[in-house]
Amino acid sequence: MVLKPGLEGVPVTNSGICEINGTEGRLSYRGYPISELAQKSSFLETAFLLIWGELPTENELEKFEKDVQMHRRVSFRIRDMLKCFPESGHPMDALQASAASLGLFYSRRAIDDPKYIYDAVVRLIAKIPTMVAAFEQIRKGDDPIQPQDDLPYSSNFLYMLTEREPNPLAARVFDRCLILHAEHSLNASTFSARVTASTLTDPYAVVASAVGTLAGPLHGGANEDVIAMLEEIGRPDEVSSFLNDAIAKKRKIMGFGHREYRVKDPRATILQAFAEELFSEFGKDEMYEVAKALEEEAISKLGPKGIFPNVDFYSGLVYRKLGIPRDLFTPVFAISRVAGWLAHWREQLGANRIFRPSQIYEGAKMRNWKPLESR
Ligand code: SDX
Repeated sequence: MVLKPGLEGVPVTNSGICEINGTEGRLSYRGYPISELAQKSSFLETAFLLIWGELPTENELEKFEKDVQMHRRVSFRIRDMLKCFPESGHPMDALQASAASLGLFYSRRAIDDPKYIYDAVVRLIAKIPTMVAAFEQIRKGDDPIQPQDDLPYSSNFLYMLTEREPNPLAARVFDRCLILHAEHSLNASTFSARVTASTLTDPYAVVASAVGTLAGPLHGGANEDVIAMLEEIGRPDEVSSFLNDAIAKKRKIMGFGHREYRVKDPRATILQAFAEELFSEFGKDEMYEVAKALEEEAISKLGPKGIFPNVDFYSGLVYRKLGIPRDLFTPVFAISRVAGWLAHWREQLGANRIFRPSQIYEGAKMRNWKPLESR
């Protein structure tokens, strides 16, 4: 047996959901390039495509959008539970708890019944944004803002955060960010989702498992840390000293590097364009010059090792300009990635094989227990 740390390069399932070309920097969902989906699709249409494999017909999309809209509200029980959490708690922990709590309201029976699957998909996609926004309002000492039925999906989330109907450009850019973050083959949180799904537990536990994994700073949590890093650098002319010190101390440059990509993550390129679109409309973010200077210098030093900007490098600058609080950047990632996790949940049900990898044991040889006095 040969050890494969982090399962690097080890295919553990067949999948038809997402294809990544890490050497050419290409990404597609069910065969559609993300650049095309980001320009022409909507998040709900893309979620439908990921989960059921084909772009919805007009009737299918209309029904899916209506069903998601009808299920945006969450039980007072969940809102009251969120009120019991400490304001200092991270929103990803609140989201993990509230996502898992949805399982208490819906049965686990007939888990492979197409109607059960559809209902679970609608509930999770509909309720995750409401729970994220509710925790934000509660920790500010306010009552949660109820979803607005007449607002489209992405606008409704921004409304629940600010109680103001968002600018149309802001809502459109946000919806495109959700498209870009929706799926990325077997990243750590999606692998968690598949392992959890392989035991045939309920989809709410599957999503809660994935949320906990996404929260880590090496994965979905990096978008928050990128902004903290840019603020630490402070000015473009401080980039060189920061980078030299970081490399000397083998400190990871947040928002850089990727297990799959050996070039700039195609999503980073698209998100950078979104940031510039927002800056031209709403004014620049002084951190953007720092980010561009860091990208240029880090690529010159780390590019030869195949380390380039990833999806998290520019996403935080977009979310900042949209007025999203920093510690909600990763919950926003989760709002989007629920679509990918559910697509893999559904695909795993068909695989019907529990994940149970092996190990190379290096522990103590067989031995007998010793009483305290003889230890
Ligand atoms: C996401 O997998 C996905 O698809 C994830 C994601 C998705 O959509 O789901 O794309 C989202 O998680 C993006 C990644 C966000 N995380 C970060 O930005 C954190 C910083 N990046 C690194 O921690 C790292 O690049 C990873 C975790 C993203 C990838 O790690 P790998 O593939 O396991 O690579 P590694 O840690 O083994 O590093 C290989 C070498 C090491 O150097 P050596 O010890 O061989 O000399 O590259 C170096 C690392 O030190 N390296 C970095 C670096 N990333 C890797 N050096 C400096 N800065 C970095 N960011």
